[in-house]
Amino acid sequence: MKQKGTSIVGWGKNRQVVDWYITPPQTTESLMKREKFEGIVWECASGDGSMAKVLSKYNAVIASDLRTDDKVYGHKGIDFLKNPQRFEADNIITNPPFRYGKEFVELALKNPRIKKVAMIFKISFLEGIGRYNFFKSTPLKKVLVFCRRQPINNASREIKNSGLIAFCWFIWDKDYVGEPTIGWINDKLCRDKFQTKLNKPKVNTPSLSKKNTKENGFPPTPKGMGIQPTIL
Ligand SMILES: C[S@@+](CC[C@H](N)C(=O)[O-])C[C@H]1O[C@@H](n2cnc3c(N)ncnc32)[C@H](O)[C@@H]1O
Repeated sequence: MKQKGTSIVGWGKNRQVVDWYITPPQTTESLMKREKFEGIVWECASGDGSMAKVLSKYNAVIASDLRTDDKVYGHKGIDFLKNPQRFEADNIITNPPFRYGKEFVELALKNPRIKKVAMIFKISFLEGIGRYNFFKSTPLKKVLVFCRRQPINNASREIKNSGLIAFCWFIWDKDYVGEPTIGWINDKLCRDKFQTKLNKPKVNTPSLSKKNTKENGFPPTPKGMGIQPTIL
């Protein structure tokens, strides 16, 4: 169990070699509904394109990944750490390999053409003295915290509707002046739209306005009992 918990954090034994974890569409959609990006977006660790495909609904997108297998969406074999200016783009948006997250942000911001950078990290990416200095020295504009755990999963497993880690979108903007702001993403509707087929079977749950009866599967409230049991 311990391995499962640490593996998604970034350093577990079971962590995939190149950190291939799929970002579900609603996670990317939540960002794009809240933040505007002008010009070309480079998804520089694109995996199977789960994120890039959503981004391309909003902007022109260049996708690339270190890997060279058939599942890669976009340009294959591009190591962003060695080629951080390989493509001409105005923005970089990605879910990077977690262990190189800070390096990805630094290199993206060093690219003179890049105006905005958005990357998804676990919420604890915020903490620590090192991170304090890092954030103070970069134009962090906004942190968007997901109210619901995002089902970012190992690519070889089925996508499930839950997650172990609390994630946030971090947005840097080179034109932004001031302290970063914080917001929350509470997208039940957005999440439902992309819900995978793993919906729980419907339970016979009477609405709160209806009385409990044998017919709707719940025992009738005994006479004289002042408080109705809460049915959720
Ligand atoms: C956490 S996955 C995210 C995949 C995709 N961005 C998504 O959100 O669904 C990280 C991806 O980074 C790629 N990767 C790892 N190291 C890389 C590097 N140095 N340069 C470019 N891509 C890299 C992995 O192959 C993997 O596809």
